[in-house]
Amino acid sequence: MDSLTIRETFLRFYEERGAQRYSSAPLIPNDPGLLLTIAGMVPFKPYFLGDATPPNPRATSYQKCVRTNDIENVGRTTRHLSSFEMLGNFSFGDYFKREAIRWSYELSVEHFGLDPERIWVTIFETDDESEQLWLEETDIPLERIQRVGVPDGASRLDASDNFWSTGAAGPCGPCSELNYDRGPEWGQEGGPLVNGERYLEYYNLVFMQQEQDGDGKVLGDLPAKSVDTGLGLERMAVLLQDVPDVFATDLFTPLIAAAEELSGVRYGDDAERDVSLRVVAEHVRTSAMLIADGVLPSKEGRGYVLRRLLRRAVRHGQLLGLDLAGGTQLLVPMLDAVLQTNLQMYPELAKQRELVTRIAGAEERDFAARLRAGLDRVDRALEDVRAGDGATFPGDVTFELHDTFGFPVDLTAEIAEEAGLVLDRDRFEALMDEQRQRARAGAKKGGGGVPVEVYRQAADEVGPTEFLGYEQLTAEGTIGALVGPGGALEGASEGDSIEVVLGRTPFYAEGGGQVGDHGVIETETGRLRVVDTQPAIEGLQTHRVVVEAGEVRPGQAAHLVVDGERRVATARSHSATHILHATMKEVLGDHAQQAGSLVQPGRLRFDFPHFEPVSLEQLGEIERTINARVLRDPHVTTEVMSLDDARAAGAVANFGDKYGQVVRVVTIGEFSKELCGGTHVPSGATVGNIYLVREESIGSNTRRIEALTGADAYRYARHEMQVAEEVARLVDTPTTEAVARVQALLERLKAVDKELAKTRRASLSQDAKRLADEATREDGVAVVIARVDGVVGDDLRTLASEVRGHLATQGVVVLGAATEDGKAQLICALTSDLADAGVEARPILHPAAQVVGGGAGGRGDLAQAGGKNGSALDEALKVASAEARSAVRGGA
Ligand code: ALA
Repeated sequence: MDSLTIRETFLRFYEERGAQRYSSAPLIPNDPGLLLTIAGMVPFKPYFLGDATPPNPRATSYQKCVRTNDIENVGRTTRHLSSFEMLGNFSFGDYFKREAIRWSYELSVEHFGLDPERIWVTIFETDDESEQLWLEETDIPLERIQRVGVPDGASRLDASDNFWSTGAAGPCGPCSELNYDRGPEWGQEGGPLVNGERYLEYYNLVFMQQEQDGDGKVLGDLPAKSVDTGLGLERMAVLLQDVPDVFATDLFTPLIAAAEELSGVRYGDDAERDVSLRVVAEHVRTSAMLIADGVLPSKEGRGYVLRRLLRRAVRHGQLLGLDLAGGTQLLVPMLDAVLQTNLQMYPELAKQRELVTRIAGAEERDFAARLRAGLDRVDRALEDVRAGDGATFPGDVTFELHDTFGFPVDLTAEIAEEAGLVLDRDRFEALMDEQRQRARAGAKKGGGGVPVEVYRQAADEVGPTEFLGYEQLTAEGTIGALVGPGGALEGASEGDSIEVVLGRTPFYAEGGGQVGDHGVIETETGRLRVVDTQPAIEGLQTHRVVVEAGEVRPGQAAHLVVDGERRVATARSHSATHILHATMKEVLGDHAQQAGSLVQPGRLRFDFPHFEPVSLEQLGEIERTINARVLRDPHVTTEVMSLDDARAAGAVANFGDKYGQVVRVVTIGEFSKELCGGTHVPSGATVGNIYLVREESIGSNTRRIEALTGADAYRYARHEMQVAEEVARLVDTPTTEAVARVQALLERLKAVDKELAKTRRASLSQDAKRLADEATREDGVAVVIARVDGVVGDDLRTLASEVRGHLATQGVVVLGAATEDGKAQLICALTSDLADAGVEARPILHPAAQVVGGGAGGRGDLAQAGGKNGSALDEALKVASAEARSAVRGGA
């Protein structure tokens, strides 16, 4: 049974039992806790948690999944895969264990034709109910049911032992697995508990009952008992196609064949090379899926998963003998094979064909070159290790390979392991930490340098900062603490730069890309100018201030006033950023997700992954759309809700940002919904105009857009208009005709230039003739020494060679010209017969060049010189004349 038929058989079976069919969701989940979609249930999480109501309580789906916990084993074994397809049936508070068990068995035996005598099941250690149901609903005898528990002391999160969760916060529950006995040639008997190779697990039934937090702590029961299942398509293909492993199924044989053809290496000839063939086939398949779903190679998160896969594939291509640094391609032709094999299964790949090959091709070109240099570095390190302890691959080299040669640490670990060494990961991590700290320190411009303990102490006294600034820009408060680099302060007076901690504040502390507020704090005795507001430690924010007048002491009552104009200008930029973000994804594709932003008064910066410059048309479309959206005055609403509710409502979260269980969701119109703690305009139209003023690359596959908003956008436009008006005034037309007028003027200028050049050439020719006629003679050689001020550069060269042309034989020409800015140029040209006789131009000119403060350069019959000192030109020409005359006497 081919893979597509396996999928169809599964889906139809459950459709016939009332399930709604779903196609695969993208690999990027709408779930900030998960890097990638790792199971069929991921898109259905809100239904399990009761945060959203499904259209139908029964569902069935096929879902591409990526799991990256042991990429390094992929290829080394024939069992590990980085991506696979999960076929699932789901009940959201509808059927439970009985039906799930009965149907999984019926499907296995009656539709997939598995031998009922060879099916073994496992159940959770305390799940008597499931055991009973297996006995009642199927022909499985008690001897083929095995109980599996969570080992003593193990965290439930990493236990693969019949209690299932995604490993992150969400639904969880005990599970029951179906396994198939592949026969005695696969080793020891005794069931899946004893031998997982022989008794291959192919179908997992999870009985979702509870909810857990991110640490695996059970929070309570789910609103309803549900079912989540997963049948591995690749494993089912192994069983039904009766082949030893996934690489021999219809899903992989075309890919292995493509890798064989590219490398000329036959699969099965050599165990080491088989590993490489499998790595290339498998990783390219996963990479294609990731890129097609909008993941781009990058330094962190899912982009780094992709980068690791692509780079590991490149290295194994090299191991197969392909000269990738020399320009041979691996990934692109492999991708062709992947696309051909998988198009029917994943039609979305067809749409992204170009994107996929471009991204993978670029990554290959970039890494192949560095790989070779990096491997040389590895070789040197290996020599050192052999001369040393012989066991440990150094963390310093690993860091250098990472930093300079782009080697993911796992790749280096793999190489070290192949050499029989263990990588010093601790040292590597320490160096990475140091680098991160340096980067952070560099980023924290002008930090006050207050030690963390001082903030901690302030937090103990003042408590967590209460932020009032969503609703109000002024407030009455109390000076909680004054701090400086040395610690807490008893007071501060005029001119002091210090920090102030307040229990409650309307000042926004920098966060989510938005800059911190400025403003004024006044007490009875003094006045402080707030020049920045920053997060200090978790829950505490700090105000950087300069004491403008008087003095201040902790405990004083304080009047707090945020610079409102600046805040509003910042809010405009923040709302504009959300509108831009939503629009970018629509115009450029889902991959154009915010990767970083800077939100300032009147301007914003937006970073996003993209593999080529955004075209002028696209920029135009984006700018038009965002401005049109603003003009429609969309509602801006903010709501505080649980993270789960936010997710269920489809709010966009930025992966890598930390969110608490309670989040703030900012909605703008129908088109934008983001988790965001920043401040926004009260209504869309107040954003005013938005102008995109720059688009540029800021690193591989990452681009940046800068935009102006509100009054700054106006000022920018006003300035541009002014320039246009001035130009129009200069060319004496209305602005509407200025471009045409300037164009016409430029054309005329070109024509005049041409005319001028012609005239100049004619006048040079006349000059040349006159100078040749005026030649004096020295030993029968014609000598022309002349000063021709204003004839410089090319004209001087032309003039010299024309004079020489008139002389025809036996002649020396030396010309000097003062330039407009008081410098001197000199040239010396000889007729060719003189040059043939051994006279050289450069030595003739050199002494003269020194007189004007320069040096001469040139070949046999032509030399040129320049010098700063135009006033010495006459003197220089005299020197040149003497040199020329003595040279021709000597040469003749
Ligand atoms: N969600 C379950 C699994 O991934 C079915 O095994």
